Amino acid sequence: MSEHEHAASADEPTSEKLVELAKRRGYFFQSSGAYGGVGGFYTFGPQGAALKGNVEDAWRDRFAVAEGNMEIDAPTIMPEPVFEASGHLDGFDDMLVECPDCGESHRADHVVEDNTDYEDAESLPIPEVEEVIAEYELVCPTCGAGLAGQAVDAFNLMFATNIGPGDSDPGYLRPETAQGIFVEFPRLKEYARNQLPFGVTQIGRAYRNEISPRRSIIRTREFTQAELEYFIDPEEDEPDLESVADVKVTLYPASEQNKEDGEEIRTTIGAAVDDGTIASPWVAYFLGVAKPWYDAVGVDMDRFRFRQHLSGERAHYAADCWDAESEIDGNWIEMAGFAYRSDYDLSKHAEHSGDRFTIFKQYDEPKTVERATVDPDMSYLGPEFGGDAQAVVGELEALAERDRSAFDGDTVEIELEGESHEIPVEKTGFAVAEQTEAGEHIVPHVIEPSFGVDRLVYTVLHHAYREDEVAGEERTFLELDPEVAPTFVGVFPLQNDGELEEAARDIAADLREAGLSVTYDDSGNIGRRYRRQDEVGTPFCVTVDYESIEQDEGGVTVRERDSTDQKRLAIDELPETLSAIRAGDLAFDDLEE
Ligand code: GAP
Repeated sequence: MSEHEHAASADEPTSEKLVELAKRRGYFFQSSGAYGGVGGFYTFGPQGAALKGNVEDAWRDRFAVAEGNMEIDAPTIMPEPVFEASGHLDGFDDMLVECPDCGESHRADHVVEDNTDYEDAESLPIPEVEEVIAEYELVCPTCGAGLAGQAVDAFNLMFATNIGPGDSDPGYLRPETAQGIFVEFPRLKEYARNQLPFGVTQIGRAYRNEISPRRSIIRTREFTQAELEYFIDPEEDEPDLESVADVKVTLYPASEQNKEDGEEIRTTIGAAVDDGTIASPWVAYFLGVAKPWYDAVGVDMDRFRFRQHLSGERAHYAADCWDAESEIDGNWIEMAGFAYRSDYDLSKHAEHSGDRFTIFKQYDEPKTVERATVDPDMSYLGPEFGGDAQAVVGELEALAERDRSAFDGDTVEIELEGESHEIPVEKTGFAVAEQTEAGEHIVPHVIEPSFGVDRLVYTVLHHAYREDEVAGEERTFLELDPEVAPTFVGVFPLQNDGELEEAARDIAADLREAGLSVTYDDSGNIGRRYRRQDEVGTPFCVTVDYESIEQDEGGVTVRERDSTDQKRLAIDELPETLSAIRAGDLAFDDLEE
């Protein structure tokens, strides 16, 4: 039987409707509403937190567990030297223009892109953006006042704080989870038994003081990233490309974007590597892993593509980068970036911290090489540096290895905790000698798949949004994949009757015991309860009626969300049957009543 009358409407679901549904049904809403709300901060309600948790679990299963990578959980506040080294203190800026009339701040590149033919204004130098604003007579998106002549400033997106009392120890809320992995590399490599390649993942909050947060959870000031930093020996390590070679992908390479009539290319991962469209086989490998994963969590593959960054668009650390993009109401949004970060981060942290961000690589045959070493005179360093003498030795060793020309003069300069010190070269025991070596210390390269969880949650909801008509009434439902749906099954007593309620509660308890996420609902008429579950995307509803409790094998009605088809199933088989459907081993359509 079915209460379904029409196929899902072809109307394009709109973000406005979704945002309203999200608030009404507890997916997400602007935070601190009691105090007027605050731009760029969102709270995930009960449904949203469950959906987000399921998406994160699915990501962890695929990118940490199935790939054999390690997961860590680092602090979200990190000291200033970390971001001096990473380049975020100097280079993590957006272009800010302020309206002379209403005082509202806007991203200058967005004002340009939204009102001219420029597609990549972010890559333009600031003076050029100022010129474009003047030339096109662009106006404030809030009040319409002219912006020509207004200065465009570089605005650093990091939230600053102080660590401990006073302001002597500045810190920042991390703008990406990645740095929490990079700074721990000297320890993490030990856990990986000093063997490349290895990967480290982290799922956690990142913070960016966005100039103009917009489009609900798509651009916020606090969001969740799921990142994998995969460390490789660029000369030796190769990905298992064969396992993803046949994955079909839609690519939009930079070369096509630069053409007037450029187009997306439909190809396979294998072919794209062979013809050089994707230069790095490692980036290609992770695109090949990501595509079916996005499909499995409910991203519509007809509204999905990988787009290569244009050269001016790439972050300061990236040698190449492809974004996973989803189409939302006619616009493409970036859900993830797959960047080849080369040895940028590890080299920078080595340089700034003096620690070893290298891996020892054994040669096949020992080699004779020239090596710079130090053998410092401790009778000089001890009295001079006291408790820091050993740290000075470490600095000298690292410097000799990194830059032997630093020892060319009478003194050599080292940095210790932000202070520079001059040491007579004769006290360092600096020497260059031939050595037979079994291997060398190399700085690994990094490939980084970096997923934004909030944008993915938004896409999954948007792509699942449906409207149709059931029993003469309009219905809205979310066609969420059972793997991520916040609730798998709703259980209802047909009426408010003690016996029915008790039986329904028992069934709900049995289903929970089987590991399914269950909601029990006895308020309102049964049609309204179905609509409620449809709107939050619950794949199945079970209704307990008098037949269920009065007849020995009366069974219960199980209704499927998308088709609204209903089947009568035995109560004692319910946990097993629904678990098999949840696991993808059984289809509702194939069930015998
Ligand atoms: N570690 C690399 C990195 O952070 P990114 O492209 O700046 O790269 C990765 O960010 C992902 O984080 C983006 O693809 C996006 O999904 C998400 N993201 C970035 N800024 C965001 C914001 N303001 N609000 C929500 N998600 C954001």
